[in-house]
Amino acid sequence: MPHELTRLEAARAYERREAASIPAGDRPAFHLTPPVGWMNDPNGFCFYDGLYHLFFQYYPYDTVWGPMHWGHATSADLLRWTYRPCALAPDTPADAAGCFSGSGVPLPDGRLLLIYTGVQPGAADGGRDAQMQCIAVGDGRDFAKDPANPVIPAGLLPAGFDTADFRDPKIWREGDRYYCVAACRHRQDQGSILLFESPDARRWKFVTVLDSSRDRLGKMWECPDFFPLGDTQVLLISPQEVCADPDGALHPGDITAALLGRYDPAAHAFARQAVQAVDDGLDFYAPQTTLAPDGRRILVGWMQCWAATRQGPRPHRWYGRMSLPRELFVRDGRLCQRPVREIETLWQAETRLTGVTVEAPAALPGIRGRCLDLSVTADAAANPGCRGFVLHFAEADGRFAEIRWDAQAGGLLVDRSRCGTRQDLPHIRRVPAAPRAGRLTLRLILDKDCAELFVNGGERVLSALIDAPEQAAGISFAALGAPVRLDLVQHPLAACPPVAMF
Ligand code: FRU
Repeated sequence: MPHELTRLEAARAYERREAASIPAGDRPAFHLTPPVGWMNDPNGFCFYDGLYHLFFQYYPYDTVWGPMHWGHATSADLLRWTYRPCALAPDTPADAAGCFSGSGVPLPDGRLLLIYTGVQPGAADGGRDAQMQCIAVGDGRDFAKDPANPVIPAGLLPAGFDTADFRDPKIWREGDRYYCVAACRHRQDQGSILLFESPDARRWKFVTVLDSSRDRLGKMWECPDFFPLGDTQVLLISPQEVCADPDGALHPGDITAALLGRYDPAAHAFARQAVQAVDDGLDFYAPQTTLAPDGRRILVGWMQCWAATRQGPRPHRWYGRMSLPRELFVRDGRLCQRPVREIETLWQAETRLTGVTVEAPAALPGIRGRCLDLSVTADAAANPGCRGFVLHFAEADGRFAEIRWDAQAGGLLVDRSRCGTRQDLPHIRRVPAAPRAGRLTLRLILDKDCAELFVNGGERVLSALIDAPEQAAGISFAALGAPVRLDLVQHPLAACPPVAMF
């Protein structure tokens, strides 16, 4: 009898064969894409056995969402990735309808534990799929699912919580205890983050509800993360169906939010003090963090939005990518981000222009490309009549993506509607932006169709996919009101597409 492949073996054979047929040039230069097929949320992001491990929601067989597997990649520097074999497939009764998002933690015995949401077909009220938390333990390549799965079953949920929306566990170790936060929908309080505790990551008990939306911050919350950053405690969430406030600080729809506050670990009490978007852009969701060995808190998100996934085009045999990993820090009460410093290892020859005065739309010598790290500093006090400037990128044949800083309008705008896209989606985002010490700084990281903009040293980040042809590499500047004085530093970025080690 020929051996029939398990679902995991089939996925591994398929990705090995198909990934080999995708040319490296078909991928971004350094943003991680799936070997083949579909990718969504980052999962199991951790530093284990000398490498960063990044797993992800994965359906290898098509460029649309399907029964969820976990894909896997490793890297020493968060930029040069190696594909590893698919880690989890939906192949047990506890996860027959999918291995949804989750996280990872190295165990004291040297093994790596993954905790994820197992989806059981038809097991919730009304025949809906049920979601419960499962674990798998392994050596960083092969993982054995625990026969006791689900280890956090519906029975552990307090009254009023719905097992049909109970997912995305994020685990960490604290002394001799394990904790995990997971998202769940409550009948009245809606999106909620639940805290669980365990002595061994297998036997769990419910501890408390850390926070809830109560109809003010979306409906269901997804993909929590919970960690201290200096004196601040951060609860990251991805709320769905957010209704924008009148001040427009959060855009409507599915967003990412950071709840900043204080945490009393003895009482397990989280006191929320502030709410902000994690990323104000058009394509960013479900971020997850890990602690680097040097103490940096690194965040990576799915650089896509669900709304866009319902439309074409699908130009490649892969779909979905991860954001550039970012270092988190708190400044003036805000969660801020900067690109991981490892990006400097991709820097090519520098172009530096100092004190350039721009008025009418103009290209500047040497400033051009679709794969670059470009910093622009505007001296807001140099010319009294100047109220800001406009930067066009991915420009060719009258099409472009636009960044517009207008001090009078009080903000910064990113607009990709005229870059050549045919998608009927939101294309514009506006955020407040004011000079700091007389200067407004922008850092634009471009990697073909991935654009990530860091404003004023990372107090705001806007990520967006730019649906413009790759040859559209023009960059130009124009002043608003009166000439603007700019300092620019540009580094083209070297390509380091993932290598396969299946
Ligand atoms: C977020 C999410 C998670 C879920 C996963 C399924 O994008 O909806 O809540 O675990 O995607 O793929």
